[in-house]
Amino acid sequence: MKPSKLGSVFLLALAAVLSLSLSSLTTNSSESSDQQLDSLAQDRAKHLARLREQIKGNGRRAADSVFKNIKTMKGMPAGRLLAIMDIGYSQSLGVSCGHCHNTERWESDEKPQKQIAREMSLMMTKTTSLIKEIKGLKSESPAVNCTTCHRGAVKPALDLGTK
Ligand code: HEC
Ligand code: HEC
Repeated sequence: MKPSKLGSVFLLALAAVLSLSLSSLTTNSSESSDQQLDSLAQDRAKHLARLREQIKGNGRRAADSVFKNIKTMKGMPAGRLLAIMDIGYSQSLGVSCGHCHNTERWESDEKPQKQIAREMSLMMTKTTSLIKEIKGLKSESPAVNCTTCHRGAVKPALDLGTK
């Protein structure tokens, strides 16, 4: 097997293991929502496998030279963008790719959630820099990310009640 082929087989296996272990980690007790999470994980894995195949050999190139409509993630390696789409964005919100994308045309901005996500990302950067100004925190580099607020839900909770 060629090294590049081996690499993508490895990535596929990694994606499968990740989605399996994440779905088995979910604390949700009801069986139907477990099934729903499984099918979201499968849907994400299917899209990621196709896209990783499409960008094979270009995973380290800048996202804006590999994809068509990159505004906030310019310069980020294309492979890393896909990992963020999976773990950072989809799993944080408890959705699959189709929540923000027309999955036949990834570059399209037709779903409002996609532009919202860009603005959320800017807000996250601003919030992180405000947090860094607070003295006496335990972390050397305190930060917030999508999961900090969303925790697997499209609409973050405003109280401690069960979702
Ligand atoms: C919460 C919204 C959200 C979710 C969920 C999401 N994406 Fe994205 N995606 C974006 C945003 C925003 C961009 C554009 C980033 C930018 O402008 O730099 C993007 C860009 C992309 C691109 C580049 C398209 C192009 O040609 O410009 C691909 C490919 C992509 N996403 C794949 C995925 C996959 C695969 C999933 C599911 C595993 C996913 N996305 C889930 C918001 C999302
Ligand atoms: C400081 C908390 C916070 C952070 C951090 C955060 N969000 Fe949000 N997000 C919210 C709130 C609050 C809403 C609005 C929910 C509502 O009332 O509709 C929201 C809504 C959204 C929506 C609209 C969902 C829908 O379909 O209605 C998307 C998409 C989204 N966030 C993506 C992201 C992404 C991607 C990140 C990380 C880059 C992120 N958010 C980080 C608090 C946050």
